[in-house]
Amino acid sequence: MKNKTSEPIETERPRVPSVKGKKRKRKLTDIETMQRKVIDEAKSPSKKKLIFPRLGYSRRMALKDIRPYEPGRPISEVQRRYGLDHVVKLASNENPLGPSPLAMEAVKRELNQLHRYPDAGGFELRRKLGDHHDVNMSNVILGNGSTEIVEILCEAFLDPGDEAITSEQAFFKYVISVRWMGGVPVLAPMKNWTFDLDAIYERITDKTKLIFIANPNNPTGTCVSDKEIARFIEKLPDHVITVLDEAYCEFLEENERPDTLRYVREERNVVVLRTFSKAYGIAGLRIGYGIAPEHLLEEMNIVREAFNTSHLAQAAAYDALDDKEFLKRTREHNRESKRMVLEKLDKLGIEYTPTSTNFVLIHLDRPAIDIFKSLLVRGVIVRPMRGYGLPNSLRITFGLIEENEFLFKHLEAVLAI
Ligand SMILES: Cc1ncc(COP(=O)(O)O)c(C=O)c1O
Repeated sequence: MKNKTSEPIETERPRVPSVKGKKRKRKLTDIETMQRKVIDEAKSPSKKKLIFPRLGYSRRMALKDIRPYEPGRPISEVQRRYGLDHVVKLASNENPLGPSPLAMEAVKRELNQLHRYPDAGGFELRRKLGDHHDVNMSNVILGNGSTEIVEILCEAFLDPGDEAITSEQAFFKYVISVRWMGGVPVLAPMKNWTFDLDAIYERITDKTKLIFIANPNNPTGTCVSDKEIARFIEKLPDHVITVLDEAYCEFLEENERPDTLRYVREERNVVVLRTFSKAYGIAGLRIGYGIAPEHLLEEMNIVREAFNTSHLAQAAAYDALDDKEFLKRTREHNRESKRMVLEKLDKLGIEYTPTSTNFVLIHLDRPAIDIFKSLLVRGVIVRPMRGYGLPNSLRITFGLIEENEFLFKHLEAVLAI
C-alpha cells in the first residue's frame, strides 16, 4: 500500500442494507474510495511481498499495511534536533497544569515498593473505581492506558476476518488494533465532524463484532448526546459489543455527559473506557480502565497481561481519584484556555471544528504539514492530521496561557510567510 501517512485508514467495502435482496448502490466518499483500494490490494497479496527471503521468515499478513503509531514528538527530541531551549508541546492532549498533586504524593510514598511486582488484580484501585462509579469491582478492568484496553478488546473478541466499525475520523488506535488481529476495520462517514450512529448502524453485518465510539472524539473534539447513544444501543443486535471511549469525558459540562454506565449495570454488551492520562494529568504513568459487564471481562482477562499496570500507576490513580480540587482547576483552566485559543483563531480567520474537549481541530487553506514543520523548528509541537485524511488540518491542545501566546506568535508568523 502506498500510504504516505503514519496512521493508516483502511476499511472493508461499505455495506449498504439490501432492499428486497438487492444491494442499493451508494456513492463512495473519497476516503472510502481510497480505502477500497487498500482492501483490494490486501485481499490479493503478492506472496513475494510477504517473505523476507534473506531472513527466512514470512511477515504476518495482517501487519503488512500497518505503520507503527506515531505519537506527538517529545519535547526533548525537538530540543535536540533543532537546538532549542524553549519548546512548547500542544500535541498529545496532556494536562498543561501537570500531574495531580495527590498522585505525585502517592508516587513518592510508594517508591520503596519498587522491588515488588504490582498487585496483578489491582484490587484496591478496582474497588475504589467500583465505588466511585457505583458498579461492582468485578465490572472494572485496568489497562496500561485505556489504549491497552482497546488492544485487549480486539485480542479477546476478534477472529481474522471479523469486522469492527468506527468512523472515518475516529481515534485511529481502533483501526490499528483491529488490523493487528487480522480483523477488518469498517469506517462509516461522519456527519458534521461527529460520529454518525445511523451510518454506523447501516454497516453492521453478521461479521461485526465490535463498534468503537470515542465520545468526545479525538481528533474532532465532538460528541454524541445521551439520547443518540440510547437510541443506538437500544436497537443493536446481540452479537455486537459497543465500546464507548470516554477519555475526555471530564472536559464535558455536567449536563452534557451521557450516562453510559447504566448499560453496564443493565449487562448490555457495552464497554466504557476511561483514562487518568488527560484530566488527572498522569499520562506518563500509563493507567486507564474499562467498565463492562462481567461476562465480557471474563474474556478480556484471559488476554490481559497479569502485571499490565505498575504499582506506582495504581497508587497514583487511587489517590488522583480523590483530587477534586485538581480536577476543578483543570476544568476551569481548560475553559479559559479554550476561550483564548478560539478567540485568537476567530481573529485570524482560521476555521475550526467546535470542540467539547481540551484540544481543537483547525482547518487551514493550505497543506498543514508545512505549517506543522515550520512550527516545529520554532519550538511549537502540534499534530498534523494527514493520517485522518485531513491534509489541511492540525490538532492543537489547549495549553497554559503563555504556551498559547507562544503558539500564536509563531503561527501568525508562519502563516504570513
Ligand atoms: C479518544 C482517546 N482514547 C484513548 C486515548 C488514550 O489514552 P491512554 O493514555 O489512557 O492510553 C486517547 C489519547 O490520546 C484518546 O484520544
